[in-house]
Amino acid sequence: MKHQNVVVIGTHWGDEGKGKIVDLLTDSVAGVVRFQGGHNAGHTLVVDGKKTVLHLIPSGILHADVRCFIGNGVVLSIPDLFKEIYELEEAGVEVRNRLLLSLDCPLIMPYHIALDQSVERERGNQKIGTTGRGIGPAYEDKVGRRGLRLRDLLDEAQLRFKLDGLLKQHNFMLEQYYGAEPVTLDACMAASIAFLEALKPMMGDVLAELSQLRRAGKGVLFEGAQGALLDIDHGTYPFVTSSNTTAGAISSGCGVGPRYLDYILGITKAYTTRVGEGPFPTELHDQTGRHLADKGHEFGATTGRPRRCGWLDVCALQRVVEMNSLTGLCITKLDVLDGLDSIAICVDYQEDNDGAIKPVYEHLPGWQGKTASIKVYQELPDNARAYLDRIEALCGIPIDLISTGPDRSETIVRRAI
Ligand code: GDP
Ligand code: IMO
Ligand code: MG
Repeated sequence: MKHQNVVVIGTHWGDEGKGKIVDLLTDSVAGVVRFQGGHNAGHTLVVDGKKTVLHLIPSGILHADVRCFIGNGVVLSIPDLFKEIYELEEAGVEVRNRLLLSLDCPLIMPYHIALDQSVERERGNQKIGTTGRGIGPAYEDKVGRRGLRLRDLLDEAQLRFKLDGLLKQHNFMLEQYYGAEPVTLDACMAASIAFLEALKPMMGDVLAELSQLRRAGKGVLFEGAQGALLDIDHGTYPFVTSSNTTAGAISSGCGVGPRYLDYILGITKAYTTRVGEGPFPTELHDQTGRHLADKGHEFGATTGRPRRCGWLDVCALQRVVEMNSLTGLCITKLDVLDGLDSIAICVDYQEDNDGAIKPVYEHLPGWQGKTASIKVYQELPDNARAYLDRIEALCGIPIDLISTGPDRSETIVRRAI
């Protein structure tokens, strides 16, 4: 990599192909860091036809010698972490001596999962459509200054004392308000301290190690989860996740100060998708929507839910460029648009008579040739290049990478990152 510290951020509602690009760029770095979110993420890597889906472990893990970090901004479900470690180990990937977990990671406990699911049930048709992984309630406990952190496992007596208080509060809500089953202390111990001995060698000071890498001039990748429009502050609230998903979250989420970030890459799907509820102005309910869903295999990597599909929302993207100070873009899944007669880009919104937000489209001709698997920019059909040129012009930043298939190798590098 030309730049030392590179950030990868999803520009819409997640699943833009961040995992693939992080894995690709990991080739030339010493470390990869997750700094927010949790195992609500699902990042897919395909190498020589072999697929790996990661939820918590950074997408650099397939490269031996690369250090992977889970920063303090990540909410950590310990059983889910180990599920992922075992799966990787079974596939022959060494994880434990390359993974460092921040002692300050807030823990996702069984009561968070029970609450997440109870809150969603209670909301009925107002539900968010969460992944049901306990993400929101775990962040609530964190900002409520009562949550457990990874370091709490080091003192069992104190842990039991804290859990006792937390269980009183959360079980009161679960039983009295939501009419749900209470969570037991045993279940909480089994989901946390039962893993202590296996966790100890992986627990440490993420900030200190990242600082050492920086001082040694080594490259580090910061792997965003979710997408900018799911950001708790800047996203489509309340249909968002519970963390900041934008570049500003890096410093708070792993301790690397903003001045040290050298390149911020936005990963943008060539069309737009969303899983779960919430506004989606360019959503298509017609044959083109089905084309995108079928050809793009648009099913969630975490929950398996079908993803809603629509045209690329550049109007939202322009704000996302600004709020992340994006340096450049990577357009992914360009191949999914192959064979369409005409392609639309949303360039503005308009309110209709009922107050609903409607997209204003610019129409561009499609292409009949293929972009799938192409690795050289000049070999793309003229109209595909015209589509990319238009996105660049509307966003005012360069498209430095283009992805033309799920495999690591199916990528066009226009400019080194
Ligand atoms: P992430 O959450 O941003 O890492 O993205 P996901 O892994 O959830 O979803 C992206 C999906 O698209 C995965 O199934 C990838 O294998 C696949 N994918 C990534 N890039 C491309 C591409 O350029 N073309 C095609 N056809 N699929 C891609
Ligand atoms: P990656 O990293 C797509 C969505 C959920 C729901 C909302 C809140 O793979 O891009 P949560 O469980 O976080 O409280 O759910 O956010 N969501 C994602 N959608 N990709 C993701 O991650 C997502 N993580 C959360 O579907 O709408
Ligand atoms: Mg995903």
